[in-house]
Amino acid sequence: MIIWKTLQFCLCLCPVTAALPAALATYCEDTMVDVTKWPMFSLMGPQELASIRKACVFGSSANEAIYITNDDEVFVFGLNCSNCLGTGDSLSTIVPKKLDFLSGRKVVSLTYGSGPHILLATEDGELFAWGHNGYSQLGNGTTNQGVAPVLVSANLLNKKVTEVACGSHHSMALTDTGEVYAWGYNNCGQVGSGSTANQPTPRRVSSCLQNKVAVSIVCGQTSSLAVVDNGEVYGWGYNGNGQLGLGNNGNQLTPCRLVGLQGLCVQQIVSGYAHSMALTDEGLLYAWGANTYGQLGTGNKSNQLSPVQILTEKERIVEIASCHSTHTSAAKTQSGQVYMWGQCRGQSIVLPHLTHFACTDDVFACFATPSVMWRLLSVEHDDFLTVAQSLKKEFDNPETADLKFCVDGKYIYVHKAVLKIRCEHFRSMFQSHWNEDMKEVIEIDQFSYPVYRSFLEFLYTDSVELPPEDAIGLLDLATSYCENRLKRLCQHIIKRGIIVENAFSLLSAAVRYDAEDLEEFCFKFCVNHLTEVTQTAAFWQIDGNLLKDFICRASRCGAFKN
Ligand SMILES: *[C@@H]1O[C@H](CO)[C@@H](O)[C@H](O)[C@H]1NC(C)=O
Ligand SMILES: *[C@@H]1O[C@H](CO)[C@@H](O)[C@H](O)[C@H]1NC(C)=O
Ligand SMILES: *[C@@H]1O[C@H](CO)[C@@H](O)[C@H](O)[C@H]1NC(C)=O
Repeated sequence: MIIWKTLQFCLCLCPVTAALPAALATYCEDTMVDVTKWPMFSLMGPQELASIRKACVFGSSANEAIYITNDDEVFVFGLNCSNCLGTGDSLSTIVPKKLDFLSGRKVVSLTYGSGPHILLATEDGELFAWGHNGYSQLGNGTTNQGVAPVLVSANLLNKKVTEVACGSHHSMALTDTGEVYAWGYNNCGQVGSGSTANQPTPRRVSSCLQNKVAVSIVCGQTSSLAVVDNGEVYGWGYNGNGQLGLGNNGNQLTPCRLVGLQGLCVQQIVSGYAHSMALTDEGLLYAWGANTYGQLGTGNKSNQLSPVQILTEKERIVEIASCHSTHTSAAKTQSGQVYMWGQCRGQSIVLPHLTHFACTDDVFACFATPSVMWRLLSVEHDDFLTVAQSLKKEFDNPETADLKFCVDGKYIYVHKAVLKIRCEHFRSMFQSHWNEDMKEVIEIDQFSYPVYRSFLEFLYTDSVELPPEDAIGLLDLATSYCENRLKRLCQHIIKRGIIVENAFSLLSAAVRYDAEDLEEFCFKFCVNHLTEVTQTAAFWQIDGNLLKDFICRASRCGAFKN
């Protein structure tokens, strides 16, 4: 065993903080989505968050949320507008409540209207609905509010629903055979039935879609769009802003093909409140419809009655985003760059604006009004550990360690490479004084076990958990090893832990370790509680010079009035 005099040298070098280019940092296939970007989810603890597999925030103020756990339980919370939580008790709740009725059913598609009403399709192809029903948008033949989920079965018996879409007050479902069904509010023909009478139960959208196989459906507030398997797009319903892209602004009571997209094979369509966008299989982006907020990204605010190509000079687009309750648009490119435009926190952004977001969902969390989710968010949790998580896990692991410290007779297992990478002190130590043949135990006698262990753990985790009294020892260590961030962390811990009983010891420590900011803080605390701190044991133990200093300073700031 060798005794290493840890305090022999102290190299204070500036930390290297080379900035990573943004493009590199976001160049990943599967971006981790963080539901806590939506305020509704910010109250949740790590365990609850880890249980979430899918989530959707909705409502006119983004005040309602639904999520599905890894065990296929469905939870809801938020404001109980129009009974849209479906809990059956008509109560708002800040604490998530389970919808027992849907327990164990695997959700494949979920969407919301403005009422709001909710549509949910399961893996078995069953369709459930609840919430606002003033226009029969629940599709069960009535206009009674759905206080709890109801199975929508009329005309869908033996059909397997794979995807759902909602406008403000109308509903659509796509089946596994490519049939489109629509029901609910129909003032502008958005149900595609050929009339403007509200549709109380699901009705197949036929006419020119009759012999087509639809592969995707979306709704604007009062319009509807479908993509069929050859990449053609059909639209029906309200067209006052040109959102059907037909070259005119007349409402359509039955589906019409978007001839403006002739020759293109559309892969994804999205609709905002009154605009629409299509992404082709070659990564080209087209937009049409309302443009009051610049949501088409054309550089001006004039509506477009036919599709116009946007983001033309940019690289291939791989995803587009919009949703019927917002005027916001977003797109993601092949290299992972995310653009946003349209209404962004009240501003009208008329040209696609490059952001540093990693996914289009974040645009909606941070800039849409209301900040709802544009799709049912999938949160993938796999066994994968990040570099940070892996490092944290390996701290003090004898199986992978190649070095151990002995402090107060106890061992702490570490990895030379990690210490070298993370701490200048160790880098120098291993480079200039280290002999590989030396025994792989380093004895430490200047610091206590909890202090030294916290220091090494900090090198693996970036964080410190210590009571304030031990944080003083760690502050000492951080000062001698020139670990400035650690020094600051210790000072925070000490400040948060100051009480009358320890105030004087903390003050002496601050003076001893040259932590001016902390000294000032402890001094003020002592002066504010002068009578009490002078009755503590710590006060009587402080050394004479420090005491004189303290009395002198305290009197200068008026602690002793006469
Ligand atoms: C829940 O919403 C329904 C419909 O909007 C309303 O009738 C009921 O009073 C609400 N309950 C509470 C506790 O807000
Ligand atoms: C339809 O749903 C409403 C709301 O839950 C309910 O009151 C009504 O009884 C249902 N009607 C049918 C025919 O299922
Ligand atoms: C707005 O932009 C579109 C697409 O670039 C263009 O066709 C149209 O003429 C522009 N309108 C005005 C008023 O500048």
